Amino acid sequence: MEEERIMSTNLESIGEERFENSLRPKELKEYIGQNKVKENMKIYIEAAKKREEPLDHVLLYGPPGLGKTTLSNIISNEMNSNIKITSGPAIEKPGDLASLLTNLSEFDVLFIDEIHRLSKSVEEILYPALEDYTLDIMIGKGPSARSIRLDLPRFTLIGATTKAGSLSTPLRDRFGIVHRLELYSIEDLTTIVKRSSKILEVEIEEEASIEIARRSRGTPRIANRLLKRVRDYALVLGDGNITLKITKHALNQLEIDELGLDEIDRKILETMIVQYGGRPVGIEALAVSVGEEIDTIEDVYEPYLIQIGFIARTLRGRQALPSAYQHLGYEMTENRGVSR
Ligand code: ADE
Repeated sequence: MEEERIMSTNLESIGEERFENSLRPKELKEYIGQNKVKENMKIYIEAAKKREEPLDHVLLYGPPGLGKTTLSNIISNEMNSNIKITSGPAIEKPGDLASLLTNLSEFDVLFIDEIHRLSKSVEEILYPALEDYTLDIMIGKGPSARSIRLDLPRFTLIGATTKAGSLSTPLRDRFGIVHRLELYSIEDLTTIVKRSSKILEVEIEEEASIEIARRSRGTPRIANRLLKRVRDYALVLGDGNITLKITKHALNQLEIDELGLDEIDRKILETMIVQYGGRPVGIEALAVSVGEEIDTIEDVYEPYLIQIGFIARTLRGRQALPSAYQHLGYEMTENRGVSR
């Protein structure tokens, strides 16, 4: 479904990935937003370079699509080093990690996406590698088995996760630099849409870029995908230039409302309001009722709904707030029930 493709967290095709890559900033000074992270990283990078040491290990966490991979590429670029990109689920056995680590060069960046999904046995190999750049490997089995220690090049691990809470404490403690990426402001997203339009060589009205920004749920990846769709409408229905009128038409066709909510967001809110009568609901029950994975609701949908004040997380579960009722056109009765 159209909406699902816009909201989805993974890059679904090579084309999509190439499109994203073409818009990715390569240097810290081109990177828009996340000012605190940017300012801090700038200092740490400069200090590491002055000391001629690798950058300390970095953990980046936060909702998908906010630029964790982009930032990692920039960091390796600014350190004048190479980056190797992999993910937690791709590293199945300790041997897979050992081979990645032994193939690194001095100061290289190893980027592990979804680092919370590393298995315990792989994680254990990682600890000494992070702490003193050594690798302990077992040779043989049974009574004749012995362990040998290899020195590794001094490298930087950048771990990315949507779930910092799922990381084991010993792993989390081995990152010297920990940053949470925040949802972007409409102003920053507007700047990103204008920058991307320039790269794509398409004219865009100021109001059109604001409109796309407003409907992008604080997420640059969504802003760039919406821009791509609107660009198609502009080419077919207009003269190729992106006007506010075409933008509104395209986004309405995609069933993305003025706040960027799609069919699934609305389903989540309706379920909370109508089916659960506005009472707190547990994430498991909500996921079953909506027909989505718990992780998808927690990582993709919920952060934005919380940010705009539509949902609150309480001790007894998630609860829809008055502004959600209002947005969907429900009257909230005294006992949080509904009438329309
Ligand atoms: N494209 C995607 N994310 C971006 C960012 N943070 N700054 C500039 N361009 C981007």
